[in-house]
Amino acid sequence: MLMGTAINAATSISFSITTVLTLLLFIPINGQDQFTIIEATIDEIQTAFDQNKLTSTQLVEFYITQIETLNPRLRSVIEVNPDARSQAEKADLARKRNQGRRFLGELHGIPVLLKDTFATKDKLNTSAGSYALVGSVVPRDATVVERLRDAGAVILGKASLTEWYSFRALGKIPNGWCARAGQAKNPYLPSGDPCGSSSGSAISVAANMVTVSLGSETHGSILCPADHNSVVGLKPTVGLTSRAGVIPVLPQHDTIGAISRTVSDAVYLLDVIVGFDSRDYEATSEAAKYIPVGGYKQFLNENGLKGKRLGVVRNLFSNALNGSTVITAFENHLNTLRQSGATIVDDLEMANVDVISNPGKSGELTAMLAGFKIALNEYLQELVSSPVSELAYE
Ligand SMILES: *[C@@H]1O[C@H](CO)[C@@H](O)[C@H](O)[C@H]1NC(C)=O
Ligand SMILES: *[C@@H]1O[C@H](CO)[C@@H](O)[C@H](O)[C@H]1NC(C)=O
Repeated sequence: MLMGTAINAATSISFSITTVLTLLLFIPINGQDQFTIIEATIDEIQTAFDQNKLTSTQLVEFYITQIETLNPRLRSVIEVNPDARSQAEKADLARKRNQGRRFLGELHGIPVLLKDTFATKDKLNTSAGSYALVGSVVPRDATVVERLRDAGAVILGKASLTEWYSFRALGKIPNGWCARAGQAKNPYLPSGDPCGSSSGSAISVAANMVTVSLGSETHGSILCPADHNSVVGLKPTVGLTSRAGVIPVLPQHDTIGAISRTVSDAVYLLDVIVGFDSRDYEATSEAAKYIPVGGYKQFLNENGLKGKRLGVVRNLFSNALNGSTVITAFENHLNTLRQSGATIVDDLEMANVDVISNPGKSGELTAMLAGFKIALNEYLQELVSSPVSELAYE
């Protein structure tokens, strides 16, 4: 069975990340007869489950081996869930009992990695990458985690991040660094910037250490690491996904979203985590009005770019990146979008873009510094027990 081959190949090449990535290019794409875990989409995994070519337990074993092999270099995972295997076995058993009667859902048996700021009421720590919160006891799962469990997902573990979302020392610690995991690396360019703060969530998905992951964003923390590690990042409107039980920065801006290798995987995750939550009442009750009946996956459409108009605001980045290969890659992507039927409305001007994009000038930084103290203290007060119970700063 090819799946076995893929597992052996991935484990035996151990330490060269370049080799892993080169190898990915030569692994056949999943077709009708063969299945490989590397780069598999949720659809392909669910088909392999149905055809008895793969179990959730095998999938979890594969990812744990991949983490053991790559994490000493990439440092994108802080903790593996000691209960991941038993959750996978439970999912396999449920599937066996159910055999062909009803679809159990896209996330059933799918391993998910959580940024280390999502509370889990289990053996895992929830620490924002910091030693300060190791051993803290959370009152309950974050609402989005509860929803993942209800959907039959396997909680594989916690992903590293820029510690305290960079608030450990704003502008002074590199993206992707936290005390508990060390410096996380971009798997495509280990000397490059993995961006942050959801760095571990993006890196782990890119390096096939998990199927999909959750991250959070206040100001670029999903989109930027997804971009830098060449994966998909979906930043939902604030309130579409509940923030209850997730270590906050600024509740007015914080949002929870998916990081994945394909858009459809992100949408499957989104469908499970969206919705009203009484513990995040104001924001979720407002946003829930806009959730389409039947969810988002009905809108997945390979020809979806046809007839769409996409605006490009170049002066947000083109000065800083002038002459870099990033610009060439960007132009190529615009051409891909055009070839898929989109109309590119280029060189849009945005008034005051320099102010808007600069948190120091726009006032966003002041709001974040003030909001973080209040919101974090509320999170800390809810903990059942914790080595630290209050944040004090001037
Ligand atoms: C949580 O942290 C404690 C203290 O360092 C450690 O003993 C425990 O193994 C951690 N939990 C997991 C699942 O790694
Ligand atoms: C980029 O640099 C070139 C010269 O190296 C200059 O002619 C051009 O105006 C620059 N573009 C922008 C957007 O700054």
